[in-house]
Amino acid sequence: MRSVIDILDLSKEEVQELIDSALDMIENPAKYAKILEGKKLATLFYEPSTRTRMSFEAAMLELGGTVISMADANSSSAAKGETVIDTARVISCYADIIAMRHFKEGAALAAANKGSMPVINAGDVGHCHPTQTTAYLLTIYREKGGVDGLTVGFVGDLKYGRTVHSLINALSRYSGIKLVLISPNELALPRYVIDNTIIPSGMEYVETTSLEDSIADLDIIYMTRIQKERFDDQAEYERLKDSYVLDAAKMKNAKADCRVLHPLPRVNEISVDVDDDPRACYFKQVLNGKYMRRALILKLIREAEAKPDTKELGIATRLKRMPEEQAKRCRCGNPKCITFTEPSTPNIFVTEDGENYRCAYCETAL
Ligand code: CP
Repeated sequence: MRSVIDILDLSKEEVQELIDSALDMIENPAKYAKILEGKKLATLFYEPSTRTRMSFEAAMLELGGTVISMADANSSSAAKGETVIDTARVISCYADIIAMRHFKEGAALAAANKGSMPVINAGDVGHCHPTQTTAYLLTIYREKGGVDGLTVGFVGDLKYGRTVHSLINALSRYSGIKLVLISPNELALPRYVIDNTIIPSGMEYVETTSLEDSIADLDIIYMTRIQKERFDDQAEYERLKDSYVLDAAKMKNAKADCRVLHPLPRVNEISVDVDDDPRACYFKQVLNGKYMRRALILKLIREAEAKPDTKELGIATRLKRMPEEQAKRCRCGNPKCITFTEPSTPNIFVTEDGENYRCAYCETAL
């Protein structure tokens, strides 16, 4: 069986397979209405969510399956100190697949590593949010006919924005992509994303602080919320929160065929006067997210049925792992990593080049 923690756990071909499957589900809903009868999805959400949790649940119900849900960590045994790994083992007794959002980076990987069913990462702090990425890819595919050759502007909080990091990972596998990274200096894209993903992929990129100077070049304008909940210093949040506001006046300078995406929820970074612009796709993308989650749930459950005794953790199959005995002697230094708060989580360090290891849970360099 397989889990999806990072969008790179799916090959480019598999992403296309999901897009094709989602399109078929849109065309032929009756064909899929009972396809997962008797199967259960568990949604484990340790952080707030509207779209992701409800779209996973709607997706499973539309496939004929059922859902059990933990929408509030405080009402679960997590409040008594139960670890993510133990929780995943317990849920394995009740469900066939888990969608998990957690406030620690790598929590979904920890659950997948020790659990016995597929786990889908539904967001782990600033790290990854792969199914959100699939929503963008289907939206781009339906709106622009494909992904190759696009100039994509990421605007706002590029530091903490997990949806930004996942979409950049996904784009790295297409051709001719140009990235325009627009943020205040304090919220610039983390260096590891540039070093591990952008540079090796050969994508062109520029970093700038000005949306106005770049907007006319963009095929995709990807707006993000400045995330109050990620700031330790609230004064800094107040200073940065209104850094970029996309409004109808700015849209006059954008390309006639550009498309505007936003992970949602928005606060005020897209003015409501953009909502009726035909180039605004952030509500269409919500629906596309449900379609892609349907396709992914079906794929992972079918794979788990076909190969119940194998376990594929994407990161472990994509990258070389540090030997277990050596890994036991190392420690990830990132306080937001699941291994930091739950030290019983087995260390996993991975490398591309055989020398420079990083934590598999949160991607912090050793
Ligand atoms: N985009 C997104 O992840 O939304 P929710 O936080 O509402 O799930």
